[in-house]
Amino acid sequence: MTAMSFEVHYPDAALGAEIRGLDLSRDVDDETFRQIERVFHERSVIWFRGQTLTPEQHIRFSRHFGTVEVPTNSQYALAGHPEIYVVSNIVENGRNVGNADAGRVWHTDSSYMKVPSRCSLLYSIEIPRDDAGRALGATHFASMAAAYDALSDEIKQQVEGLEAVHNYTAQYERRLAKMKAAGAIREELTPEMRAKVPDVIHPVIRRHPLTGRKCVFVNIAFVTEIVGMTKEAGAQLRDMLIEHSTAPRFVYQHRWETGDLLIWDNSATQHLAIADFSLPQRRLMYRTTVKGQPSH
Ligand code: OGA
Ligand code: MN
Repeated sequence: MTAMSFEVHYPDAALGAEIRGLDLSRDVDDETFRQIERVFHERSVIWFRGQTLTPEQHIRFSRHFGTVEVPTNSQYALAGHPEIYVVSNIVENGRNVGNADAGRVWHTDSSYMKVPSRCSLLYSIEIPRDDAGRALGATHFASMAAAYDALSDEIKQQVEGLEAVHNYTAQYERRLAKMKAAGAIREELTPEMRAKVPDVIHPVIRRHPLTGRKCVFVNIAFVTEIVGMTKEAGAQLRDMLIEHSTAPRFVYQHRWETGDLLIWDNSATQHLAIADFSLPQRRLMYRTTVKGQPSH
């Protein structure tokens, strides 16, 4: 069987690639997927523009990467599709249709899970625009492999073998307090959700389970402590690593158009949502998350 052909276009950045010429509403064959995967492993973020996907087609393409997770926070699941997490600022009947403030600090999806996520696939349905028609609400991606490589030998030695504690609830509660103070609506975590997300431990420098590259694997959203260090010293080390790793030379900034399906590698990148829009500028995105490999 011959693979479907596609073109790859590279932005002027340390990571990222646009794949042109594929219509993902039709399934891709295994050989085509292997070629896509090769680009993905090289560039850590890939996107397909101009797609029109049903939730089923989005989930079907996601399954090529592995098992699709059912998100911890089920309140933002798409009706009838528990695998689809809705990211949106739209309010209907007094209720947010999705998570309105997803990703407002640098983070990796699901790093707080015992088995972290391999990748996330975000599909854009509505994109906010300014008065001049310019797209708002970009997402930034930083290469944790390039960031690791650029660490000094001294820091590499210092962090080798260290482990970090990741926890979901700390971040959620910080956001909840902020949202409430701003008068916004956000639901409390239920005891069932809390029970699903105990502390987990991952290496500070994690070897990518599929490419073998060493990647910085601490993030500001979910890392609460470095094992064996005081809270203060751990936070200082974490923040130093993140500041280094999210410097502009390691970053690709994605400007969304409607119909983009963008996939990022959660082992090799961190991402950040830019909150430069508000209602009536609407943003609606659907996300799937694929399970990865244990880090121990
Ligand atoms: C996410 C996320 C960023 C964005 O969905 O995991 O962080 O720009 N989204 O919506
Ligand atoms: Mn995210």
